[in-house]
Amino acid sequence: MIGEWKWEYNGVVHRQLDYLVEVDGDLTAPRLEKGKHDCHAWIGLDNLDLMMGGRSDGDRRLRDVVAKAVRTRLTARLRLEPIGPEHAGDLWRLHQDDAIGEWYEGRWTQVTAQRTATDMGAAWERDGVSKWIAYDRVTNELVGRGGLSRAVVDGQERLEVGWAVVGSLWGRGYATEIGQAALRLAFEDLDADEVVSFTEPNNTRSRAVMERLGMHYSHDILHNGSSFVLYRRSRRRDSSSTSGS
Ligand SMILES: CC(C)(COP(=O)(O)OP(=O)(O)OC[C@H]1O[C@@H](n2cnc3c(N)ncnc32)[C@H](O)[C@@H]1OP(=O)(O)O)[C@@H](O)C(=O)NCCC(=O)NCCS
Repeated sequence: MIGEWKWEYNGVVHRQLDYLVEVDGDLTAPRLEKGKHDCHAWIGLDNLDLMMGGRSDGDRRLRDVVAKAVRTRLTARLRLEPIGPEHAGDLWRLHQDDAIGEWYEGRWTQVTAQRTATDMGAAWERDGVSKWIAYDRVTNELVGRGGLSRAVVDGQERLEVGWAVVGSLWGRGYATEIGQAALRLAFEDLDADEVVSFTEPNNTRSRAVMERLGMHYSHDILHNGSSFVLYRRSRRRDSSSTSGS
């Protein structure tokens, strides 16, 4: 389920549940329900404004449910939800894991988790991309987080990909699965030319994810005063090899 909301009209309380479904079939010419719908449009990352067309009340709830749907990705094993303020609790839980804390200056406070979740939600609106939180598609278990950000890296505005996975779930390919979804988003949906990633030189597990994703070491960089290794992958070879799982 992707959204749940209630409203009152003429004294009657309505409750709406919105679901995200995967469809296997030809959706190029949908048949509309007579008398109920008179037109349709495909909504994607780049035309969410259509959802506000003709609205004079400024009510963004339906637009926000659709935004969540178009930004969510389902991979073979994971449901990747665009992080927003509602994920502060899960983000905090994730950052109580010492295996993650080792690379993020320790455990996060609830205030940090709340602020980060809010900032990431704002980034989806401002930049069109931001991080996902990852759940097991079947069990809903919290798996990790990751995905794209627009960031200034090595003096240039770039699309950067990153990941963090609950320590007990390392070694199962979840970070690679998140990274593959991010590269598809970058190269197939956003038409990006390049995606970069950077980490501490001794973060061998993160470097191994980059290499599994076909990224290549470029050079050492300084970021916020610390040394990192920068990896890059350009569009040319991605469009053929990121499709699939
Ligand atoms: C970086 C991090 C996400 C990597 O996690 P990971 O589990 O090592 O990486 P993956 O999810 O890609 O898993 C790869 C491993 O799973 C195995 N694997 C199993 N099934 C797999 C699959 N379907 N696809 C890919 N790999 C698979 C691989 O062989 C590999 O095993 P190995 O580690 O024994 O070589 C994790 O170490 C982490 O969260 N670190 C803390 C946060 C952090 O440092 N983030 C990066 C900041 S820059």
